[in-house]
Amino acid sequence: MLLRLFIGYLLVQTVSGKMCRPKASGTKLQAFVNNDVNSIMGDPERNTVRHANQLVYFWPSLSEFEQSVLRDSFSQISRRSCIKFEEQPWQPWYHADRWEPERPYVIIRKSRQYAAYTDNNLEGQVSRTILYISQNAFEQHSYNQSRGAVMDQLVRYMGLRKELLRPDAASYAQEKNVGHAPPTPRFHPAQLSWPFDPESITVPLSARKTHYLTEYCPGRNDADIGAGQRVGLLTRWDSIKINSMYCPQLVEADPRRGPCVVPRKKDIHHFKKKIHAYNEMKKY
Ligand SMILES: *[C@@H]1O[C@H](CO)[C@@H](O)[C@H](O)[C@H]1NC(C)=O
Repeated sequence: MLLRLFIGYLLVQTVSGKMCRPKASGTKLQAFVNNDVNSIMGDPERNTVRHANQLVYFWPSLSEFEQSVLRDSFSQISRRSCIKFEEQPWQPWYHADRWEPERPYVIIRKSRQYAAYTDNNLEGQVSRTILYISQNAFEQHSYNQSRGAVMDQLVRYMGLRKELLRPDAASYAQEKNVGHAPPTPRFHPAQLSWPFDPESITVPLSARKTHYLTEYCPGRNDADIGAGQRVGLLTRWDSIKINSMYCPQLVEADPRRGPCVVPRKKDIHHFKKKIHAYNEMKKY
């Protein structure tokens, strides 16, 4: 409660005080509905794309453990993509660093309920985002799974959408008990220009219990669904999709050789059997 009041105070200061710049957009808590990283609307004003280099402040109440998971997530993401998260030493809101024009930054906080962000643009002067990582991401069964859950929220903040919500996802992965299908969010065209990836960091670990792969995805096994989050690593295809948004000049890949059609070496035998079985099935 106190924190919330403080934030309210901060925002009021932001708008009315310090800069004498009247308009802050998207500061209200209600705005989270649209900026939920799970939201179908995402960020309707733009197709992502943020700065590939993100200056990051940790909200002081994040625990050492949470900070270390976040740092590790940053380094895993930048190891395999051109996105960089640069942690800054904490500065209070009135510090000059936080008011420098041309220096957008993100404050990372934790939320019991949301994975969400709120972007504030003060007349193009200061661009500041508050990103809420949901508490449960830090409370997974293992450290690597926590890193995976945090990485998922970070890459979706950076503009990836859930692979399972792609318009073409149902061709490759089907839900066992069909519930109501969530609406398709707006995807960045770069993500959709590459093949569906059942192991993407954006696929929840729990999806292996709820989904199975179709005959159009013989290159992977049901047990591979959600593998990215399980090990807490971007897949090769996650990297390709992210880099296509932020540094397309670095991307070299053949979209016809996606994870659903190119098996891993260890699975080749199984893959051949599956293809054979499908072909047999089609005969009848
Ligand atoms: C967790 O991830 C790290 C880095 O990828 C890896 O070295 C380590 O073996 C993983 N731990 C477990 C228990 O899988």
